[in-house]
Amino acid sequence: MERTTTLLTNLSSRRAAGQARSLDGTWRGIIDPYDSGYIDIMGERNKRGYYRDFAPRHPADRVEYDFDTSLELEVPGDWNTQHPELHYYEGTVWYRRTFECDADEPEGTRSFLSFGAANHTTRVFLDGEELARHEGGFGPFAVEATGRLASGHHSLVVMVNNRREPDRIPAMRTDWWNFGGITRSVEIITVPTNFLRDAWLTMNADGSVHGGLTTDAPSGPNLRAEEAGLAGMSIRIELSSESGEAREELTVPVLGTAPQFGQLLTTAAADAFARWQPGAPVLHNVSFSLLSPNGDEVDRIDDQVGLRTVRVDGTQIFVNDEPVFLHGIALHGEGPTGGKRAHGDADAKELLQWAVDLGANFVRLSHYQHDEAMVRETDRLGLLAWGELPVYWGIDFGIANVLANGLAQTEELVVRDRSRASLILWSVANETLPGPEREAFLTGLISRVRELDPTRLVTAALLTIPSNDPEVHVTDPLGEFVDVIGINQYLGWYYGDRASIRETNWSSDFNKPIVFTELGAGAKFGNHGNENEIWTEEFQAAVYREQIAMIERQMSADGGHVAGLSPWILKDFRTPMRVLPGIQDGYNRKGLVSEEGERKLAFDVLRDWYQSLSD
Ligand code: GCU
Repeated sequence: MERTTTLLTNLSSRRAAGQARSLDGTWRGIIDPYDSGYIDIMGERNKRGYYRDFAPRHPADRVEYDFDTSLELEVPGDWNTQHPELHYYEGTVWYRRTFECDADEPEGTRSFLSFGAANHTTRVFLDGEELARHEGGFGPFAVEATGRLASGHHSLVVMVNNRREPDRIPAMRTDWWNFGGITRSVEIITVPTNFLRDAWLTMNADGSVHGGLTTDAPSGPNLRAEEAGLAGMSIRIELSSESGEAREELTVPVLGTAPQFGQLLTTAAADAFARWQPGAPVLHNVSFSLLSPNGDEVDRIDDQVGLRTVRVDGTQIFVNDEPVFLHGIALHGEGPTGGKRAHGDADAKELLQWAVDLGANFVRLSHYQHDEAMVRETDRLGLLAWGELPVYWGIDFGIANVLANGLAQTEELVVRDRSRASLILWSVANETLPGPEREAFLTGLISRVRELDPTRLVTAALLTIPSNDPEVHVTDPLGEFVDVIGINQYLGWYYGDRASIRETNWSSDFNKPIVFTELGAGAKFGNHGNENEIWTEEFQAAVYREQIAMIERQMSADGGHVAGLSPWILKDFRTPMRVLPGIQDGYNRKGLVSEEGERKLAFDVLRDWYQSLSD
């Protein structure tokens, strides 16, 4: 029976408390397109497979692999941009990292191997034993290793397979590069036997504070807290304002049933705490302490959270009861230069600074869960954000394990980030075709999102079906189930002539806010010419001018349906679908900046308009 992975949140707090040991750095790798390191020619488990990390025991011992003299791979990082032979590679790569433990695991602690993300399907082996399998390329996961990290030498082997499969999420085709590998950090997390697995705080639309706590204790199934040795334990929540003036404390008993004793928190309105505002972020200190019956601190999580409300009313979006127009930009999780999978603080800071330079108040973090550094940075910068599941294009909605994996990826997306005030929208899909199976699947995900986080808005990016009709009326049945309707439209690029863009009118069956979650055109940086010449910067800028003229006429503040936009896209990005030599060369050229961060004319056109909105 395969052990499943689990979710550990609040890793920043664990790192600050010295409870995290990084395993980032140079690992060894073996390219294995036939999975021969895992299965033998009979299709059975290869008992001497790569995961055993064997060394020859004597001169005649046949071991047909050797991590110590194999490929070097940096972790975190995609493999595609580290070795030319891996540029297009889709299959299995074995990663191996050895490490020493100076002492046995301390009494009264538990250990977890934590992965920020690995694309796409991962098997984790420790000292030759398979611990768990994880599916999904963009969410965090952890594997319990308690009792397996005795003093001495250890071998951690990770099998990562990025092959596109019809029953995966995403599935067979994506307009982005299928970066494979351990793309985010790997750490050993050490926590007390009874620990706070998850602690989160955000705000309801009525201004009351909402959150949740999950205590994890090794215990039998369905045991109640008092039967699981947690009787009399409690959790103290202390919220203190950034200014130090306001302070709230709340203590709740540990409740619920094993193995994760969870409960929700709703406190009185937190009027004493300054609100987090777009462009004026305020983060307050919060600590969650798990207390023994006599009040000793058993475990503690510290975080910084912003408090703000978000809601919709008619076609408008409100933050802290003020209408907001989302003037934003979409991003892929690709670093500022070099066309690599983005990870860590430096990439987050540079990419999001470009969004701030653009005058944006909103970023669409498409088409999958981005590194946690991104949403911590949007919190710090005061940028509103959209989080998204990679339920993209041709998903097979009829396969049972696809829904199960969709729900698992939903949990990773929402549970990791639901304390982030900047995040206001959860998106469950991008450009999926209407149909009963699709609506059933997506409403299942929407229900799960709302269970995990009833405070934020739910949305999806819908396809625009091209027509020459200047009156575009959105009727996609999914519009009934979301709070905000995302629309991807490429007037002036894939369809519609540029001259008629500004006359186009948008409405929907649902009287809900419409956000243009994609619009734009392609241009190669430095390619200049007449604005009617495709791929010139002038052509792209002209499309932006016409799109702006169209949007200005129907903003929801003036009674229209349009509550915002996140044009496609901040930066040119790698994709195997764009092959025009001398122009695309494996990049989608709709970026406002090139893959090396060079600004195109359209950047200035959009920035000037965004600036005018703020004046
Ligand atoms: C689609 C899709 C994007 C894609 C874009 C394009 O709308 O959502 O992922 O990159 O169009 O064609 O450039």
